[in-house]
Amino acid sequence: VNHTVSELSPFETLIDDSSGDRLPLTDELARLYGQLRFSRPHSGEPRVIASFVETLDGVVALGRGGVSGGAEISGASPHDRLVLGLLRAAADVIVVGAGTVRAVPRHRWTLDHLVPGLDDDLIALRARLGKTLIPSVAVVTGSGQVNPEWRLFHTGEDRALVVTTSRGAQHLADRGLPAGVRVASVEGSGDVGAGAVVSAVRDWRDARLVLIEGGPTLLGRFLADRQLDEIFLTLSPWLAGRDRDVARVSLVEGAGFTPLDRQWGRLVTLKHAGSHLFARFAFERAQS
Ligand SMILES: NC(=O)c1ccc[n+]([C@@H]2O[C@H](COP(=O)([O-])OP(=O)(O)OC[C@H]3O[C@@H](n4cnc5c(N)ncnc54)[C@H](OP(=O)(O)O)[C@@H]3O)[C@@H](O)[C@H]2O)c1
Repeated sequence: VNHTVSELSPFETLIDDSSGDRLPLTDELARLYGQLRFSRPHSGEPRVIASFVETLDGVVALGRGGVSGGAEISGASPHDRLVLGLLRAAADVIVVGAGTVRAVPRHRWTLDHLVPGLDDDLIALRARLGKTLIPSVAVVTGSGQVNPEWRLFHTGEDRALVVTTSRGAQHLADRGLPAGVRVASVEGSGDVGAGAVVSAVRDWRDARLVLIEGGPTLLGRFLADRQLDEIFLTLSPWLAGRDRDVARVSLVEGAGFTPLDRQWGRLVTLKHAGSHLFARFAFERAQS
């Protein structure tokens, strides 16, 4: 792992065209990141944002032999982890696809140990927002094949939801889940539409800000269904490439777009720290 920065320096803001309410960042977080603003959700719907890190050529996981966490892509960039920390602190519910949890079954999706020395600031931000200490997590699975041992299921009372199909719910009923893990079942046996995922987490937690943390298949569905408001995308300054033997997933999987149906993003902010770029793009969300 190569560190491009040895200690956390402030981000340099190249463009900031964000608007809306400022999050009540601590002085230290504001000194490092600058202001973070979110406009109000439209029509009572939660705002849906995503956070990803990719190489310059769009690879988000290295495949065989890789350790399959964001750190291998970002080079363990503390700035990338700080952005993630800010977004987790602001989120009511983090949503992940089952494939992402399978890749890192011991991951907890909490606020601590993200950036050395900043745990207290992130926790203070959450407290200022009047939110519970750790964000809730929803796992999306069509098959219902989740492992009750996954660590996120054991990180707090009543913290996790599994959003699945009726087929998946049947599988879960047979297999069992740890106490306190809820299941939201959507009619059908294939995939769950992004709108149904958003409705499930809104109904579960009265969520205002939903953070999609992967993976690429889930993101593809949110794009195809036009349910994404914004993406926070870290560009890590290297090219991973692909060879014939190892499949390497890219930022979006399972959905493809053409110039006829593409969604044109609007650059909201652009920051850098060393040679890492931190972009925030906004998209038009379909009205439900
Ligand atoms: N660099 C980054 O920022 C980043 C972020 C996240 C993940 N990743 C990497 O991405 C890789 C995983 O890729 P992936 O595309 O497999 O991730 P994924 O989207 O998390 O997982 C796909 C699986 O999640 C479930 N799923 C996703 N969308 C669904 C929907 N709309 N309805 C029902 N189920 C849905 C399905 O599970 P079932 O099979 O159970 O039906 C599907 O097989 C991992 O290596 C991970 O490390 C990278």
